[in-house]
Amino acid sequence: MNGLAILVAAGRGERMGAARPKAFLPLAGRPLLLRSAEAFEAAGSVAHIVAVVPVEEVEAAGTMLRGLRKLSAVVPGGQRRQDSVLEGMKQAPDGFQGVVLVHDAARPFVEPALIDAVVSAAAAAGAALPVTPVVDTLKRLRDGRVVETVDRTELGAAQTPQGFRFDVLARAYEKAFREGLTVTDEAMAVERLGEPVVVVAGSQRNRKLTTPEDMAWAESLLREEARA
Ligand code: C5P
Repeated sequence: MNGLAILVAAGRGERMGAARPKAFLPLAGRPLLLRSAEAFEAAGSVAHIVAVVPVEEVEAAGTMLRGLRKLSAVVPGGQRRQDSVLEGMKQAPDGFQGVVLVHDAARPFVEPALIDAVVSAAAAAGAALPVTPVVDTLKRLRDGRVVETVDRTELGAAQTPQGFRFDVLARAYEKAFREGLTVTDEAMAVERLGEPVVVVAGSQRNRKLTTPEDMAWAESLLREEARA
């Protein structure tokens, strides 16, 4: 298949106290963005990789990713996540009709098998995303008090890569931008279109590294795996 993977790493509020954005921080010597990109390089369903990064990191990202055969562009991102994704979509080959994948570069442990599963499901249904079960009991809160307990059997935690037939995401974004809607993930734009979004089983490894503690967890996971 000829999927187009857009790796988003252009968020501004993500420095974890460091000088560089988190996707550029090394994890056991290799930046998160590179680790993520390598998973897409290895996935048989992906033909093109586009990285969307802060404008001041475009050059560094190009150098970091230059060994990847599938890399087609490194472009600066926009104000919101959806603006960054749109910049990535503009890099699609002319007349592209395949599946577009959007992945948080801060999920470096995504597996090629999960990527391929999302592409297959998205090609069949129009839109697909990986979810994991919610294990904690969830409370709805107001003013420091519990209002109610939320039934978690109907809830899932959304991961990336999220996959879409290109025309489906283009229509969903067209509507979201026209209506001034800010979405927190791409699937939300498709939900607003009223079109189906199917789920595939996500993985615990594929978690988003957000805090310095997450980085420490990831380092220890890699150490354990190196010993095994
Ligand atoms: O803020 P959040 O964790 O939801 O961001 C998810 C992903 O979207 C991150 O990988 C971030 O770099 C990306 N993003 C982006 N451009 C923005 C905002 C977020 O590429 N303007």
